[in-house]
Amino acid sequence: MLTKPKSFSPYVPKPATLVAKSRLSDYVTLFTFAFDDGRILAHRPGQFIMLSIYGVGEAPFSVSSPPNRQSGNFEIAVRKTGTVTEALHRLEVGQKVGVRGPHGSFFPIQKFVGQDTLFVAGGLGYIPLRSLLHYQLRHRDEFGRIIVLVGTRNPGERIFVDQLAEIAARGDVEVLETVDQPDETWTGNVGVITTLLSKVEIDPAQTYVAMVGPPVMYRFVISECRDMGIRGERIYVSLERRMKCGLGKCGHCQINGLSACVDGPVFAYTDIETLEEAI
Ligand SMILES: Cc1cc2nc3c(=O)[nH]c(=O)nc-3n(C[C@H](O)[C@H](O)[C@H](O)COP(=O)(O)OP(=O)(O)OC[C@H]3O[C@@H](n4cnc5c(N)ncnc54)[C@H](O)[C@@H]3O)c2cc1C
Ligand code: FES
Repeated sequence: MLTKPKSFSPYVPKPATLVAKSRLSDYVTLFTFAFDDGRILAHRPGQFIMLSIYGVGEAPFSVSSPPNRQSGNFEIAVRKTGTVTEALHRLEVGQKVGVRGPHGSFFPIQKFVGQDTLFVAGGLGYIPLRSLLHYQLRHRDEFGRIIVLVGTRNPGERIFVDQLAEIAARGDVEVLETVDQPDETWTGNVGVITTLLSKVEIDPAQTYVAMVGPPVMYRFVISECRDMGIRGERIYVSLERRMKCGLGKCGHCQINGLSACVDGPVFAYTDIETLEEAI
């Protein structure tokens, strides 16, 4: 006899409603959701949710908002790439989705307390890092210097532009941006994100690195960080792999025996540096 799934099963999505939607670039939109039963998403920066669009499918997305928002709402920012993400972009405010999670490992905020943080965000990598950054801004006194490096392919693909300008204007956060290919509107730095690393002076014994971006970026940035004297255990990266269950059961996200969905996505560099398939 078939039994009804228990309500606490991690496989059963919880209904949530789209409460706001705003365009970040031609392909990326910020979505704000609230759980229908009033629960608060108890995530930590770096974790992800599995979001299902009824009748279409399910996909993993990083939580971009900081933890413990008083409103109880949470945000994801999504690039339109295929079936689920296109269906998500077609959703109207008031429509329902299913949410599982939060899942996965996270940035160890407690280690960052009293230390400097160097954020290195390549493209959509800013989305999960924003959760950590906004947490630190909310608890600004607990952290040392905050340095944010953001690299984007071209000016049209920049996301959270106004928010980043506000953060840069605070005076207590150093924000440096670069684009690979400038257009006529761009007056800032041109070049890959490593060109920004040479512009910042850091104390390697006092600095943690939080890095998320396309795989090609990691090898170069990690090498530069090591040259700057930052030890591997102070460098945290997020590794994305294709995911199905998000629970360490299906094997889709394996990296040399580790599951990116439960052992990751956030790893200390020292935990993955010897794994052939990691970076
Ligand atoms: C832990 C984690 C966090 C993520 N966070 C975000 C986020 O915050 N914002 C966001 O926009 N995306 C994020 N992604 C990627 C997102 O999950 C994929 O873009 C999504 O699954 C694509 O689903 P789809 O049905 O729209 O595309 P599909 O129709 O399945 O595929 C469309 C195209 O996208 C490619 N693709 C599908 N999945 C991935 C993937 N995981 N990585 C790279 N390429 C893929 C396919 O090869 C294909 O070319 C995250 C992925 C992981 C694993
Ligand atoms: S997604 Fe199933 S094991 Fe990671």
